[in-house]
Amino acid sequence: MLVLGIESSCDETGVALYRSADSAPATLPTGLLAHALYSQIAMHNDYGGVVPELASRDHIRRVLPLTRQILAESDCSLADRYGISYTQGPGLAGALLVGAGMARALAYALNIPAVGVHHLEGHLLSPLISDTPPEFPFVALLVSGGHTQLMLVEGVGRYILLGETLDDAAGEAFDKTAQLLGLGYPGGPALSKLADSGDDSRFTLPRPMLNSGDFDFSFSGLKTAVLTLVKKAGLDASADIAAAFQAAAVDVLVTKSLAACRYSHARRLVVAGGVGANTQLRKRLTRDAAVHGISVFYPRMEFCTDNGAMIAFAGAQRMAYAAPELTFAVRPRWDLATLEAV
Ligand code: KG4
Ligand code: ZN
Repeated sequence: MLVLGIESSCDETGVALYRSADSAPATLPTGLLAHALYSQIAMHNDYGGVVPELASRDHIRRVLPLTRQILAESDCSLADRYGISYTQGPGLAGALLVGAGMARALAYALNIPAVGVHHLEGHLLSPLISDTPPEFPFVALLVSGGHTQLMLVEGVGRYILLGETLDDAAGEAFDKTAQLLGLGYPGGPALSKLADSGDDSRFTLPRPMLNSGDFDFSFSGLKTAVLTLVKKAGLDASADIAAAFQAAAVDVLVTKSLAACRYSHARRLVVAGGVGANTQLRKRLTRDAAVHGISVFYPRMEFCTDNGAMIAFAGAQRMAYAAPELTFAVRPRWDLATLEAV
């Protein structure tokens, strides 16, 4: 089946077309056919963070032109056998409503199925959009702007939470540290770039909960330690501070992820979410995992952050659950562990 996926949970409008191989005629191309993304980052940058009302309005402006664009690019028409998936949550309520409203309206008008998917399930399954996808089971490290979780993934919808952050998410810690260093929003990529030119041995920052014996994280103390260091060393030292922060955050993420793999006897580790684009994290993980005989899988770089492809792919797995109704609800807060297996 051909699935149109729509992502609008935060500050990126993403759309994609994915055709699953199962029932497609051999003459048709399968896999990811087209995807397009519009990032609102520049608009929110002036405010130092996402402004929900501006985000919703911009999603409204972008979602239809982007959809027309990918239909044209992939030579698909609305007459093809379709399903539509959209991010139902978690995320900003107004922003979610744009994608959900568009998807439900289109599905009703065309008399085709639509299904709401969980944003984190999209991230979690994004490394499967590949010619060499990991087999189940695997441990997933989900590191985005809003979430930091270690999950044991036994199949689609079979997610066992091993640990999560007790306060800030990893991406949030990158963003707040970047803000302290005057790097704008979202600061993760800029902080990581600055860190590459710094000396990570000049300062040592704490590794919160490194030896806590569980798979939980805490990043707010690290942010406070950065603040103290900035006051002491000044912004002239910002590259070295960025490097020290990145080294500490990466150290905790790598150590806990590998411990979670050992605990659950998993030979495969999947990294998903925006912070998964961090090159230092990728380098350390790949190196240390190899020592333990664990293979690490990443989504394509462009699918680490929010995108429509992961929503189309997750939708293709869940299309059997599509409901025909016209009414819909978004779920700004939604626990991933409550999803049902498919
Ligand atoms: O998954 P995502 O696009 O959005 C959420 O669902 O939250 O993740 C965005 C987060 C932001 O906090 C951003 O700063 C962070 O991912 N991020 C990075 C990098 N690229 C994006 N953090 C560190 N290094 C990067 N290269
Ligand atoms: Zn996300």
